[in-house]
Amino acid sequence: MKAVTLNAYGTPDVLEVTEQPMPVPAPHEVIVKVQAVGVNYADLLIRQGVYPFIPQFPAVLPGEISGIITQTGSEVQHLQAGQRVTGHAPAGYATYAAIPAAGITILPDQVAPAAGLLTHSLTAQHLLEQTSGYRSVVITAAAGGVGSQAVQLAKIKGIPQIIALTGSEAKQEYVRSLGATHAINYRETDWLKQLADIAGPQGVDLILDATGGDTPAQLASVLAVHGTLIVYGNSSGQPTTINPQELIMKSARVIGSTVYNIPPAQRQQWSQYLVDLIATGQLLAQINSYPFTDAARAHSDMANRRNTGRTVLSFPE
Ligand SMILES: NC(=O)c1ccc[n+]([C@@H]2O[C@H](COP(=O)([O-])OP(=O)(O)OC[C@H]3O[C@@H](n4cnc5c(N)ncnc54)[C@H](OP(=O)(O)O)[C@@H]3O)[C@@H](O)[C@H]2O)c1
Repeated sequence: MKAVTLNAYGTPDVLEVTEQPMPVPAPHEVIVKVQAVGVNYADLLIRQGVYPFIPQFPAVLPGEISGIITQTGSEVQHLQAGQRVTGHAPAGYATYAAIPAAGITILPDQVAPAAGLLTHSLTAQHLLEQTSGYRSVVITAAAGGVGSQAVQLAKIKGIPQIIALTGSEAKQEYVRSLGATHAINYRETDWLKQLADIAGPQGVDLILDATGGDTPAQLASVLAVHGTLIVYGNSSGQPTTINPQELIMKSARVIGSTVYNIPPAQRQQWSQYLVDLIATGQLLAQINSYPFTDAARAHSDMANRRNTGRTVLSFPE
């Protein structure tokens, strides 16, 4: 089988397509014939060697996949060959991948492989559920994988003010089409003033940021009293900076969040909820599809902010 492998950390050109042995399922695993690999920003960090998870070289890049079960491990009772599923695989950038059965979500027939990739939607759902009673939300990188799901889920939850920050005019248009009530290009010099004008004297109740650098500190200036700023990544590559003074006078809080420690029962419930929204056309993903062998180009486009929606590696039928 073919896989995207890594022999050193570095720029996208360290990714190589190589021939690898077929995976064999451990007792609690299943083997999936991969139909779509979801490219998540974390994959870029793993490739660069700056993510907490460090693969042993030569490594098949880990990743989110969807596809068809071809084989089940000896202890797997509740799944069978032929089922369409999605999940995170320790060696996911491959034509066949082993996945722990416990982490699998079954996809209904009407959900296509790329549409059924759930990491971005689960992350967004988790972020939006970390606090309650909020009436306004600011979402950075709102046209991206997580961001575009967060905009739609905020709309589904009935949040009256959804302020989307993006890096281009085209992305602004896209987030408006998803339900953002306001769209700001935060590469314009007066973006913070634009945001402050929209937020008004009461400020915004919830801010979601995964760009890092100085942006969260700037965003904190528009937080409402008792507001919440959630940091969940730093795609700028710069450490997140926050001025605690900004929080004190507002009794505001900053919290971190990761999709990887959602309790299993909650993850299962939310996954089913999200699959139902996808199946009924209420939660959409714009798919940027690259051939599997073009993983390096997909990584490069995402690093250079050229991506909109969900980036996916796909396979010929
Ligand atoms: N904590 C968690 O559980 C979790 C889970 C999934 C993802 N994440 C994090 O969430 C973020 C988004 O992930 P994703 O997979 O959905 O990626 P993405 O948003 O589709 O792509 C990254 C986006 O970040 C924005 N960005 C801002 N400054 C950037 C810079 N200097 N360089 C590159 N990009 C920059 C760009 O959008 P604009 O041009 O519009 O700014 C870019 O398109 C990442 O930081 C990721 O690590 C966290």
